[in-house]
Amino acid sequence: MAFSLTSRSPSAFAGRSAYDFETPLDRSLEGSAKWNLMYEADEDVKPGVVPFSVADMEFRTAPEIVRAIQETAAISTLGYTVATDDYLDSVLGWQFRRHSWTPSLDWLVTTPGVVSAIYTAVKAFTQVGDGVIIQPPVYYPFFNAVAQTGRRIIENPLIHEGGRWLMDFEGLAELVRDPSTRLLILCSPHNPVGRVWTRDELSTLISLCVANDVFIVSDEIHNDLIMDGHEHTTLMKAMKPGQFEYCMVATAPSKTFNIAGLQCSNIFIENARMRSTFKNEYSKAGLGGLNALAWRACQVAYDECEGWLEDLLAIIRHNYELVRGHLAETHPWVEVADLEGTYLAWLDLREAGKDAKTIERVMHAHDLYFDEGSMFGVQGEGFERWNLACPPTIIERALERFDEALDELRG
Ligand SMILES: Cc1ncc(COP(=O)(O)O)c(C=O)c1O
Repeated sequence: MAFSLTSRSPSAFAGRSAYDFETPLDRSLEGSAKWNLMYEADEDVKPGVVPFSVADMEFRTAPEIVRAIQETAAISTLGYTVATDDYLDSVLGWQFRRHSWTPSLDWLVTTPGVVSAIYTAVKAFTQVGDGVIIQPPVYYPFFNAVAQTGRRIIENPLIHEGGRWLMDFEGLAELVRDPSTRLLILCSPHNPVGRVWTRDELSTLISLCVANDVFIVSDEIHNDLIMDGHEHTTLMKAMKPGQFEYCMVATAPSKTFNIAGLQCSNIFIENARMRSTFKNEYSKAGLGGLNALAWRACQVAYDECEGWLEDLLAIIRHNYELVRGHLAETHPWVEVADLEGTYLAWLDLREAGKDAKTIERVMHAHDLYFDEGSMFGVQGEGFERWNLACPPTIIERALERFDEALDELRG
């Protein structure tokens, strides 16, 4: 598998950050899940092709985090590790600074991932056969977390209206009324449609769920990836104190700082009884503890890397505008959803009138590896999810191939 990344010209973003968000990386030999999926689809991928699928970034880890990991590896025994006071200070300090939220220390449970925490919550707070609401198109492990634990998937699909994605509160009002519906998994911000739910939207959701005794698992892994003009509201901030027992908030430094491989998440459950039920279910799966390198990396990310995050957000915005502006000129029939949060653009190609398999085949033929919209539920058929977290030159080159692919699709 030959690889070469020859940048044609510096992008318009060049030099606007003290960090390196410009140099294309070769991740072919680092065990990257995203790159390996691309090679599974085509083992002879052309040199210089970078996939746009799985939600991690084609950027070097912030140097502050790299240094901290090196120092930790040099001085630590890397033995079993727990969330120490300084770890908790960093996590809570971040929630306060970035989200004006002041959870208590004892609400926090660390887990090696948000997905495993969602599976645990489904098992802890519902019985086999109970209904669990999800709102597709949505991050596909939500479907698995319900189906693989023997619960019933209850779909309350998002509404797509005038180019905007909204929650269907009328549909939700019906669904929560069924007493066997016990839990709702919320994606906030929403992957893949890029919505940052407003406080009003969250308040409506909360009223409906609480009134009907439905617990809300709020997956807020994308909570720091918020574009200008939007504000993320932590679900518990939209709740009244008496409602906290209906809620679990899942956060992590993994998406924000591209350290998903370190497997470290911070889960908040205010209600002591619910927290203990959650922990008990967790330990039944043999899970627990905190990765020794993540313990330090999470602290440094939250304490020292806010500047890196600000520059990252600027480059995501820049890349999004590149895609949207380019398509508005060349293929205005492609609807690009507003990017309020996440680094994932959601493109509607349904005007081409092709099925999901054909779209995927044509994209691969043009060396484009996105996450197919159909992965996120039938509501996503005819869409592509484009991961924008890469150097702008990679996007610029891909747009040329995308133009050709779109011409072929529209044929
Ligand atoms: C909404 C959402 N939740 C969870 C995850 C993954 O969480 P983890 O790697 O912590 O299990 C992702 C990754 O893309 C995601 O988009």
